[in-house]
Amino acid sequence: MEKRDHWSSRAGLILAAAGSAVGLGNLWKFPYIAWENGGGLFILIYLVAIILVGFPIMITEVGIGKISERDPVGAFRLLGGHKSPFRWVGLMGIASAFLILSFYSIVAGWAIQYSFHSITGKFGEVPAAQVATLMESPKNVELVKTTALNEALSKDLSDHDKKEMLRDANLYPPPPVGTELSSYTNELWLPASGGIKESLEKTGKLDKWKSLFHQRYVDSKEYDQWLAHTLRPAHSTNIFLELVDDPVKKIFFHLIIMLITTLIVIGGIHSGIEKFAKIFMPVLFLLMGVLVVNSLMLDTEQQGVRYLVFGDISKLKAESIITALGHAFFTLSLGMGAMMTYGSYMKKTGNLLNASIWITAMDTIVAILACLMIYPIIFVYGLTPSSSSVGILFTTLPLEFFNFQGGAILSLFFYLLVLLAALTSAISLLEVVVTYFVDEKSWNRKKSVLVAAGLIFLFGVPSAFYESFFDFVDSLTSNFMLPVGGLLIALFAGYKMDIDRFQEELDAHGYPKWVFYFFKTSVRYITPFLVLVVFAVQIKAWLV
Ligand code: TRP
Repeated sequence: MEKRDHWSSRAGLILAAAGSAVGLGNLWKFPYIAWENGGGLFILIYLVAIILVGFPIMITEVGIGKISERDPVGAFRLLGGHKSPFRWVGLMGIASAFLILSFYSIVAGWAIQYSFHSITGKFGEVPAAQVATLMESPKNVELVKTTALNEALSKDLSDHDKKEMLRDANLYPPPPVGTELSSYTNELWLPASGGIKESLEKTGKLDKWKSLFHQRYVDSKEYDQWLAHTLRPAHSTNIFLELVDDPVKKIFFHLIIMLITTLIVIGGIHSGIEKFAKIFMPVLFLLMGVLVVNSLMLDTEQQGVRYLVFGDISKLKAESIITALGHAFFTLSLGMGAMMTYGSYMKKTGNLLNASIWITAMDTIVAILACLMIYPIIFVYGLTPSSSSVGILFTTLPLEFFNFQGGAILSLFFYLLVLLAALTSAISLLEVVVTYFVDEKSWNRKKSVLVAAGLIFLFGVPSAFYESFFDFVDSLTSNFMLPVGGLLIALFAGYKMDIDRFQEELDAHGYPKWVFYFFKTSVRYITPFLVLVVFAVQIKAWLV
C-alpha cells in the first residue's frame, strides 16, 4: 500500500477545508436566506447555530478522520467495531459526495460560461439585432411600455404634464401641503405601477401617455439606445435561459469542471489539493475584498450594512431557526464525511481544535462578506432578490455590474470568485470518493480518480437534461442524506466510539478541561437534539 499522504502545513489543511466549506452555499444561499429572514437577529441565530451545531460536528468529523486515518467507511469500522452498523453511515457519506458532485459540477460550469460572457460584454447593451427579437414577446413589450410610462412620469416631463397624467389615471388627489411634486409622483408611481397603468387603460388615456412619451424619446435619435437599455433585464434572463435550456452546453462545461477537478485531485493531497488551495483561496479572498469595497462605496447611505446589522425583525419567523440550523450544516460541508476525509490527512501532531476553529470562522466570514457584497447593490438599485433559483447570481447581478465603469472587470471578478468557490468544493467531494477507493479497494490514486470522476460525470448527464432529476438529487442529498448523516455522526462520537480519544487530542495541545466538556455535552445532547428537530421538519417538508 502507498504511504499515506499528508498536508504539509497547518495552513494547507485549513485552506483546503475552508475551500470545501466556502461555496455556492455562502455566495448565493446565505445572502438569500438571511435577507428573507430579516437579517439582524437572524444573523445572530445563525451564529448560535454555527457554534452549537456546526462547530461541534466540525470537531467530530475532522477528529474522527485524524484519529482513524481512514476514509469514512474505514473510520467507522476502525473506531466502532468491524460489524458496527455505523459502517453504513460512511457508505452513505460516499454516496452523498458522489451524488452532490454530479449536479454541483453543472452549476460550477455556469460560472465558466459567465466568465466568458463578462469578457465579451454580453450584459452591457443589447445588440441591435436582438432588440427586434426581444420585442416579439408580449411580456417584453409590456416591460418597455411600463418603463416608458414610469420615466415619463417620474422625471422628464414638466410638473404640469405629470399632474395631468395622474389626473387622467384617476390617481391625483391633492398632494399633502408642502410636498414637492416630484417626490410625490414617485411615491404614487413606484409601489403601484400596475395600478396606474390599468387605471389609464380603463379610462382610455393610455394613448395620451404614450404620445407624451414619444415626444420626449421616440422621435429623438436616442430612442434606439433607450430601447436597447430598457430591454437589458429581458436580455439577461434570455442569456440565462439559453444556457439552462441547452443540455449539450451544460454537459460541455460540466465536463470541463470534472476535468479540472480530476487534474487537481490526481496530484494528491500535498501537491494537488493543498497547492491549489494555497494559491487560489487567497485569490478568492482578494476578489471578494474588491467586490465588497466596491459595493460599500456605492451604498453611500450604508443601507446594506444597516440591514445586515439591524435588519427587519418582522420577517423573522419560527421556521427561521430551522433554516439557520439546516444551513449551518450545508455550508460547513458536514454530514457526509468530507471533513473526515480531509482530517484523515492531518499529521499526528496537528491541532484539531485550532483547525476546526479556523475552518468554521473562515466559512462564516465569507458568508457575511457575501451579504455585504450583494445587499448594497439590492438597495441602491431597488431590486427584490429573486428566490427559487440561482436567479440573482446569474441574471440580476451581471446587469448591475455593467452599470459601473469597468463593469466587465467587476463581472469577471465576480464569476471567477463563484468558479473558485465551487471548484474547491468540487475537489473535496471528489476526494471523498477517491479516498474510499484508495483505502477500501486498495486501488492506486490515479485509477481511483479516473474511475470516480468518470462515473460522476456520467451520472450528471441526466441532471443536465432533466431539471426534475437535478432537483431530486439535490433535495435527496441536502434534505435527507446530510441531516441523517450529521445526526448519526454526532451519536457515534457521543455514545459509540471512545470519546476520550477527543480529550487526548485536546490535552495534547494543553486546552483547559472545559473545552472538552463543552464538546462532550454538545455532541451527546445539544447537537443530536437540534439536528433531530431540523431533520423532523425537513422530512415533513419533504413528504408534503
Ligand atoms: N459547503 C458547500 C457550500 O457551501 C456545499 C457542500 C455541502 C459541500 N456538502 C458538501 C461541499 C460536501 C463539499 C463537500 O456550497
